[in-house]
Amino acid sequence: MTDANTPPSRGRILVVDDQRNMRATTALLLRAEHYTVFEAGTGEEALAHLSGGSMDLLLTDLKMEPMDGLTLLRRALEVAPRLQVIMMTAFGSIESAVEAMRLGAYDYVTKPFKESELRYRVERALERARLLRDVDNLATDFNQRHGLSALVGRSAAMRDLTSRLMRVAQSDATVLIQGESGTGKELVARALHAHSRRKSRSFVPVNCAAISESLLESELFGHAKGAFTGAVKARRGLFEEADGGTLFIDEVTETSPTFQSKLLRALQEGEVRRVGESTALRVDVRTVAATNRDIEIEVREKRFRQDLYYRLNVVTLRVPPLRERLDDVPVLAEHFLERANARSPNPRRLSASAVTHLMGYDFPGNVRELENLVEQAAALAESDELMPEDFPLRQARLPPAHGTSSLSALDGQLGLGTGTAGGPTLAQVVEDAERRAIAQSLERHGVDLARVADELGVSSTTLWRKMKRLNLRPPTEASRE
Ligand SMILES: Nc1ncnc2c1ncn2[C@@H]1O[C@H](COP(=O)(O)OP(=O)(O)OP(=O)(O)O)[C@@H](O)[C@H]1O
Ligand SMILES: [Mg+2]
Repeated sequence: MTDANTPPSRGRILVVDDQRNMRATTALLLRAEHYTVFEAGTGEEALAHLSGGSMDLLLTDLKMEPMDGLTLLRRALEVAPRLQVIMMTAFGSIESAVEAMRLGAYDYVTKPFKESELRYRVERALERARLLRDVDNLATDFNQRHGLSALVGRSAAMRDLTSRLMRVAQSDATVLIQGESGTGKELVARALHAHSRRKSRSFVPVNCAAISESLLESELFGHAKGAFTGAVKARRGLFEEADGGTLFIDEVTETSPTFQSKLLRALQEGEVRRVGESTALRVDVRTVAATNRDIEIEVREKRFRQDLYYRLNVVTLRVPPLRERLDDVPVLAEHFLERANARSPNPRRLSASAVTHLMGYDFPGNVRELENLVEQAAALAESDELMPEDFPLRQARLPPAHGTSSLSALDGQLGLGTGTAGGPTLAQVVEDAERRAIAQSLERHGVDLARVADELGVSSTTLWRKMKRLNLRPPTEASRE
């Protein structure tokens, strides 16, 4: 029982001594300091206490029968490697104390000891235990959030990807990540950083589709004071922010050739020049770029500079679409459900039929779409067991034949191109299908772009980028012009 006046425990200590008096006195002294204290009269008894792993400090006598303090120390560290140990030795047994330290004890006290000395040594050992625990937690946290363990999936395709990722993470090679929208490219980029020697420095993401070209340049390279109207102060660019770390250039294909040549120069020379500044600054940055386009088509059609492509494409990591690794669907669904459950008062579970239902779908929005489906189901389902009907799937809507739908008037209005050899190119068919899907959804939801993005299973950034490229605007905004 704890009452309101008792301060919380400052640490859990196990006191081991075969002399009952000595043990009781030591325990009493430590309880007065508000530690939670357990007692054991033999080494065996002590090991039983330690097996749960909840103890912070072991304070043990050296000379005991039948198990002596050194043996207990050795066995204790086997069951609880993070345990702090202080050895209590009799006057004159300094060699044993040294031996204890060599075996992993943190400290020792010579009996008889002063109360103040024991208090001091105990507090210091517990401080170390807390520190180690914090470091452990941080490392687990960091890994769960950014490392490989953030990448859920055990399919052969994902295993290939992660082993390749681990191999290139160590090097400073520029990496190009390719994959459809929502496949997990950003998670892959973060994992690359988390497993690189740069992990303690910054991971700096920049999304080329989300900002205008002129802003992008000053964002990346920085600018001098007075470089342009509004530049009242000099500013560091993201290249400089990422010095020593990793710069993640997302949606790199959504940039103009002019910008691309500036980027190329920076990568080639390892130097950046702030806008409006004549001197260049050296930066040590590892670059990771991503795109959800087929970049080779972009190069062939002269929208992306070939020299920059070669520069970025030292190593390619291809993140496969979810429909090519449907065996990841169950683990991913469980993962997202677990996350939703952690935030919710009524935890849900997946029925086998729901899993089968999901595995029959082709997920045009990839992992992000599955994530959304699970979160919606967890929020809206009527029973604790999630059933197929809790996951309303969009039909895999194939585009209607080119230019023959009721939306062909819209096509004309939006200026849909034709292929060079008479028929449309694959890129045009895809673009056509995208334009239709977005235009239809925009008609339904108008300016509510969050709903449009949701319906289409893409992030709002992706939607924004696609609309910009396809020259689509929400109806109400367009009609104002
Ligand atoms: N293997 C995975 N394990 C766990 N979560 C994943 C995995 N892949 C993707 N996700 C989740 O799916 C969502 C989309 O991932 P991410 O943003 O990395 O995709 P993307 O490829 O960068 O998409 P876009 O091209 O739209 O920017 C994120 O919420 C991410 O956490
Ligand atoms: Mg992304």
